[in-house]
Amino acid sequence: MPKNGKPTRTTAQGLYDRIADVQNIAMKINGYRASVAKYLRSLDLGLRSDSLVLDAGSGTGIVTNAFHECGLPAKRVISLDLSINSLKIARESLSKRKKASAPTDTVQANVLAMPFADRTFDLIMMCGVLEYTPLDAGLSEAARVLKKGAPLVLLPVKPSIVGSMLELLYNFKIHPLKSVREAATRYFNIVGNHEFPVTEPISWSKTVFLLEKK
Ligand SMILES: C[S@@+](CC[C@H](N)C(=O)[O-])C[C@H]1O[C@@H](n2cnc3c(N)ncnc32)[C@H](O)[C@@H]1O
Repeated sequence: MPKNGKPTRTTAQGLYDRIADVQNIAMKINGYRASVAKYLRSLDLGLRSDSLVLDAGSGTGIVTNAFHECGLPAKRVISLDLSINSLKIARESLSKRKKASAPTDTVQANVLAMPFADRTFDLIMMCGVLEYTPLDAGLSEAARVLKKGAPLVLLPVKPSIVGSMLELLYNFKIHPLKSVREAATRYFNIVGNHEFPVTEPISWSKTVFLLEKK
């Protein structure tokens, strides 16, 4: 982060600024939003009407929209990403929503240095973003801004044929799941590791860990 406080433009930001539109359409077609919403609905996240929720590395807002679709209580939702163009699309799609849990703000920032105080959030969701960062640094920053005992819903890209194709296409690095578990246990209790049904395209590239801040 430079002295003027603005995030440095990274390769990932440049890539997602260029492909935000295409990425959003691809994600709409493959049903990710419905799969994530179904999973979130299956959990008891302990949210209340004063809860603060963060989608860290939100991209075009697929996961943020999935959250709103569930009708869970919240006071405010924040979609955070480095890519300005992705956040613009997120804002457009969120403004068209008929059903929303709470108002959503978009914030351009780095998941490795989030502009929030310690223990701010009651829920964090992270989908497909830590593949662009060192694992430990990403998880420790998420743990910093999460309240004690609060959940992190973490959807990493899993090693698979589709995952390897995406790795080349999107220029990221899949972390071995053993490393994800090891790094996660430094800051979180692992409450669950859900596999999506194979009939849902999200299962071809993602798995989901339910973590609880220690
Ligand atoms: C594969 S996309 C996933 C987007 C969204 N979570 C989803 O599931 O549709 C990865 C996103 O991470 C963002 N990203 C990559 N590195 C980041 C960082 N260090 N801080 C914030 N966002 C980052 C990219 O801009 C991109 O929008």
